[in-house]
Amino acid sequence: MITPPDPGTVCESPYSLCEPPDYVNVSPVADPRLEGRAVHRIAYDEAAIATRVQELGAEITKAYPDGDLLVLGLLKGSFIFLSDLVRQITRPLHVDFVVASSYGNDTVSSGTVRLIYDPETELAGKHILLVEDIVDSGRTLHRLMEVLGTRRPKSLGICALLHKHIATELHHPTRFVGFDAPNEFLVGYGLDHAESFRHLPYIASLK
Ligand code: IMP
Ligand code: MG
Repeated sequence: MITPPDPGTVCESPYSLCEPPDYVNVSPVADPRLEGRAVHRIAYDEAAIATRVQELGAEITKAYPDGDLLVLGLLKGSFIFLSDLVRQITRPLHVDFVVASSYGNDTVSSGTVRLIYDPETELAGKHILLVEDIVDSGRTLHRLMEVLGTRRPKSLGICALLHKHIATELHHPTRFVGFDAPNEFLVGYGLDHAESFRHLPYIASLK
């Protein structure tokens, strides 16, 4: 059970989990990396992330007993998750990246997804695991899955660190999910707001 802080008190630990209601006068988490921005709460701390990533690595290792595995990180948001995840997958694999445009400086989707994809990457006959930071509307992943599906992979799966479960535009299953995320704007561990906060070692809900 999580106890909300009294209004006016400081969150003692930068990793303490505070419930999200709109507190007034709650001091922001004391972390210079936050550029003075207040956060609602630390949604997932370093230990929780590490434990879950280790479990995901084991799940993925078990799910692909044979064949070539290509782990495709969707940049930029997946870069930290991907680097931790592949070190928890104990079978042979290759790593590559895909770039798609995202929200720019907004916290809501603009409705446009631009894909920038390396056509030299050989996907045919391989198990492709697309690694994403967070599934929100699902638009980005849906578009990517359509494109990658035309490259004749042996299988095509999605691994998302976070899933808000509000996606209406993703018509492919997300095979591996780290956390069922709250419908809040989250930053850290690769996720940004206007390119800031990617380097936070925890995932926080931005005020
Ligand atoms: P979708 O296409 O709406 O699912 O959005 C996917 C992309 O939007 C993600 O890969 C992120 O880059 C970005 N995004 C969505 N929700 C968040 C969030 O809560 N924090 C940071 N980025 C987000
Ligand atoms: Mg982004």
